Amino acid sequence: MPWPYQLRCFNCHTRYPTEKTNYRCEKCGGLLEISFKVSGRKAPWKNRSLSVWKYRELLPIDNDRFITTLAEGGTGLHFCPRLGREIGIKKLYVKNEGENPTGSFKDRGMTAALSKARELGKKRVVCASTGNTAASLAAYSARSGLTCIVIIPEGKVATGKMLQVMIHGASIFQVTGDFDEAMKAVVTLTEHRKAFYLMNSVNPFRLEGQKTLAYEVCDQLDGKAPDTVVLPVGNGGNISAIWKGFGEYNMLGITETRPRMIGVQAEGAAPIAKAVKHKQEKIQPVTNPRTIASAIRIGSPVNWTKVLPAINESHGSAETVSDKEILVAQRDLASKEGIFVEPASAASIACLRKSLETGRIDQSDLVVCVTTGHGLKDPSVVDYLPHRQRYTLKTTQPDWIERLERTL
Ligand code: F0G
Repeated sequence: MPWPYQLRCFNCHTRYPTEKTNYRCEKCGGLLEISFKVSGRKAPWKNRSLSVWKYRELLPIDNDRFITTLAEGGTGLHFCPRLGREIGIKKLYVKNEGENPTGSFKDRGMTAALSKARELGKKRVVCASTGNTAASLAAYSARSGLTCIVIIPEGKVATGKMLQVMIHGASIFQVTGDFDEAMKAVVTLTEHRKAFYLMNSVNPFRLEGQKTLAYEVCDQLDGKAPDTVVLPVGNGGNISAIWKGFGEYNMLGITETRPRMIGVQAEGAAPIAKAVKHKQEKIQPVTNPRTIASAIRIGSPVNWTKVLPAINESHGSAETVSDKEILVAQRDLASKEGIFVEPASAASIACLRKSLETGRIDQSDLVVCVTTGHGLKDPSVVDYLPHRQRYTLKTTQPDWIERLERTL
């Protein structure tokens, strides 16, 4: 059973029944959130093994029988001394979300949101997606027998993610235009047809699953919060969910501090980074967003009203990186630490390198970079790899071993 929770407006705190499924406040139009009263409580999960459902008390699903799981969470927090030394930081950790069942952090959210959908009696679930949300939703729908509809920008989803959506049997609708177009379509669809349940990150139940990343990181660091967390930002659901998680752990008295949250966007799709840089209270959507990191090719982030407070309250920042910096970071992490992540995820490493150069992050900080998706999802980066010599091996020659050694 979860601890008592409420569904309320993030902005004006108006409360709503937890069955409400259009995710805007009727008074002010703000986004909704789940609020748990955690202060004064004692966490009973210390001896449970690491996973999203380790934190059952803080997940707003009332009845265990609706829980739909593929064993999500419990991902590695990898100490990266080789890459850290090269970048100039002693305590670099990578929280590798590519280790989740469908290869991205979305699974943390989907296990919670899909379970809630079932609890609410929903039969059809729908999302707009740059690929990972769709892949995850398709898998969890298949797992639970729900009908899955995904709306995606035509020709702009990485091959691996398309394959996942197809093999899990989702109905795929493609819109001309970018992700923002697809998002508008699902919002309109779910407003007009109550039978379709919206599974994007404006769904506050999904974000409750995603906040568990923060709990896990603190548990993996033996009850300490990192100094700084760096992660890619698209719609901004993840950074706000993780910030909420660090806040709850702090209120529970498990950690003494909260980290600085640094959001990273690609130069050609950076409405949040621009707003933070110019100290604006609102974002200016970017039309025709461009970047090789297709997962975060988003011009109008739906969660921006949650992102700006997360960055400001945490004394963090939002930065931009170029596609070239992303590709270099992707190769560095793969070749120096054995961790293969998709381009959007590598943006966090690229940002770390830049932030050390500009002095935004200190060399002595304990930094966690969140790598959000697995590298195999987007094989198109093969076109950007530097040419590597491949040798022909004639094992019929008696001296082939010596020849092999000579080329090394
Ligand atoms: N990293 C990856 C690999 C993603 O797929 C996404 C978002 C993000 C980062 C950004 O997360 O939106 O919570 O700020 N992908 C969404 C999708 C948009 O449809 O898969 P965010």
